Amino acid sequence: MTKNVLILPGDGIGPEIVAQAERVLNAVNDKFGLQIETIHGLIGGSAIDDSGVPFPDETLAKAKSADAILLGAVGGPKWDALDMAIRPEKGLLAIRSQLNLFANLRPAILYPQLADASSLKPELVSGLDLLIVRELTGGIYFGQPRGIRQTESGEREGFNTYVYSESEIRRIAHQAFQAAQKRGKKLCSVDKANVLEATVLWREVITEVGKDYPDVELSHMYVDNAAMQLVKAPKQFDVMVTGNMFGDILSDCAAMLTGSIGMLPSASLDENGKGMYEPIHGSAPDIAGQSVANPLATILSVAMMLRYSLNAPDAAMSIEKAVGSVLDQGLRTADIKSDGCQVVSTQAMGDAVLAAL
Ligand code: NAD
Ligand code: IPM
Ligand code: MN
Repeated sequence: MTKNVLILPGDGIGPEIVAQAERVLNAVNDKFGLQIETIHGLIGGSAIDDSGVPFPDETLAKAKSADAILLGAVGGPKWDALDMAIRPEKGLLAIRSQLNLFANLRPAILYPQLADASSLKPELVSGLDLLIVRELTGGIYFGQPRGIRQTESGEREGFNTYVYSESEIRRIAHQAFQAAQKRGKKLCSVDKANVLEATVLWREVITEVGKDYPDVELSHMYVDNAAMQLVKAPKQFDVMVTGNMFGDILSDCAAMLTGSIGMLPSASLDENGKGMYEPIHGSAPDIAGQSVANPLATILSVAMMLRYSLNAPDAAMSIEKAVGSVLDQGLRTADIKSDGCQVVSTQAMGDAVLAAL
C-alpha cells in the first residue's frame, strides 16, 4: 500500500538539510520497495511570505492525510518582529497541537567516531545512549491565560500559565515507561516539584502510572540538578521524561554531548503512531545558505520515521549504518570537525550517505 509523506522544509537551513534527507528517503524507497510518495508544503516563515500565515489550512489538510511528516526547521530574523500569534514558531506549535503529537522522542546517541567532537571528555560520553521523552502539546507552551498586559500601576507585565492535566501527564508517562521497558528499564522523571504545583501533580501521576510498570526503575529529579547531572555524568540516564519547556532545554543540552546539535533527530507521535519527524535544532540563520549545515540529524529523523510510522525497520537501520560508515570514512560537516577529518558541505555529506547506502 502506498504511504504518503509530507515534506515541510521550512526556513533557514531547513530546505538545505531536508533536500539531503529527501534524497536518502527516495533512495531507501527504491532499494526496499517501500511505495512511499512524497508531497511538499509550506510552514513557518516561508508560509508567511506566501500567504501571511505560518500554518496555512492547505498544509493542515496535507498533514492530516499524510502517513508521516518530515520537517526541517522554522523561524529567522526576517520574521522576529511579527506579532507572536503569526510568527513562524506558531506554525510549528500549531501543527504539533492540531495533530495531537504529544509524545516527543529525542534520542541522544553518541556515534563513537564523534567522541572527540563532544564538549565533554570522551570517557564521560563513550557509549552514551539516552532518550528524552518530552511532552509536546501542553505545559507552559500552551497554558491559558497568557499575554502581556498593563498593570494598575501603569507598567506592562508578561504572563504565561504552566498547567498540566492528569490525563496529559498519564499518557506521556505511559509512552515513557513503555520506551524504558524496551531499553535499559530505567526512567528518570524531571520536574520542579519543590516549587511548582503543576509538577507536584506531575510527580504524583508519574508515580501512580509507574505501578503498572514494576520492571522499570523510576526515579525523580529536579530540573536544575538534571541539567547539572547531564553534563556531569550523562551515562547515568536511560530514559528521561519531562514537560514541554524542560524537555526543550534539556534536549539541546544532551545534543551537545553527542558532538553537535546537528546530530539529534526526533519523532513527535500521536496516540496511533502517526508522527512528525524533525531535527531538534532550529533554522540556524547564522549559517543558512552556505551549504555548511549538518544534515545528519534530519537524515536520522528519516530513519526514525521509517521505524515508527512506516513500518520499515530494515530501511531505518540501513540509514543509521550508512551514517556510521560515512563517519568512519572521516567525513565531517564543520560543526563536528576534528583533527585528521575532512570537512565537507551539506550536499557532499548527503552524497556520502547515499553512496554508503
Ligand atoms: P538553532 O538551533 O537554529 O541554532 C543554534 C546554533 O546551532 C547556531 O550556531 C547554529 O548555526 C547551530 N546549528 C543548528 N543546527 C545546525 C546544523 N544542522 N548544523 C550545524 N550547526 C547547526 O537555534 P537558534 O539560533 O536559537 O534559533 C534560530 C531560529 O530557529 C529561531 O527563529 C528559532 O525560533 C528557530 N528554531 C526552530 C526550531 C524548529 O523549527 N524545530 C528549533 C529551534 C529553534
Ligand atoms: C524545538 C524548538 C521549538 C520548541 C520552537 C521553535 C517552537 O525549540 O523544537 O525544540 O521550543 O519546541
Ligand atoms: Mn528547542
